Amino acid sequence: MLGIDIENSKRFADWSKRELSRIFTAGEIEYASRFENSIEHFCGFYCVKEALVKALDNKQIEYKKVEVLHTNSGKPYLSQTSVEYLLKGTNYKKVEISISHSGDFAIAVALLN
Ligand SMILES: CC(C)(COP(=O)(O)OP(=O)(O)OC[C@H]1O[C@@H](n2cnc3c(N)ncnc32)[C@H](O)[C@@H]1OP(=O)(O)O)[C@@H](O)C(=O)NCCC(=O)NCCS
Repeated sequence: MLGIDIENSKRFADWSKRELSRIFTAGEIEYASRFENSIEHFCGFYCVKEALVKALDNKQIEYKKVEVLHTNSGKPYLSQTSVEYLLKGTNYKKVEISISHSGDFAIAVALLN
């Protein structure tokens, strides 16, 4: 199953650290904060979480329980804890994600197998 989401990163421009921490994990905040254009990265992570809602057709997903990590080459993936949380009670075994940003927009795709 597939899910996709696109968002304007400007929506995160005025968010305080406290607001960000309601949705994003400490690791995601640390990662995005390394970049000058951190809102683009936050926006990409947000798109991943929304794409997962669509792929799973489940609006009860708690975004804070979904963590985007990166390989050494920069490829995004979900933490093992996130995968267990998301796939519990489903027949899916694997989640793949992909993120892109351009200008004010970020987009993400989530694929469940
Ligand atoms: C990795 C690469 C494709 C990303 O493309 P980009 O247009 O720079 O950036 P985008 O905005 O589309 O994508 C950024 C996202 O890609 C993802 N990404 C980064 N490295 C990745 C990788 N190795 N594999 C998969 N996804 C990757 C990340 O999720 C990143 O967002 P995040 O840091 O917020 O999580 C690009 O930087 C790259 O390395 N291209 C090299 C291609 C090349 O030199 N080819 C030689 C041709 S002769």
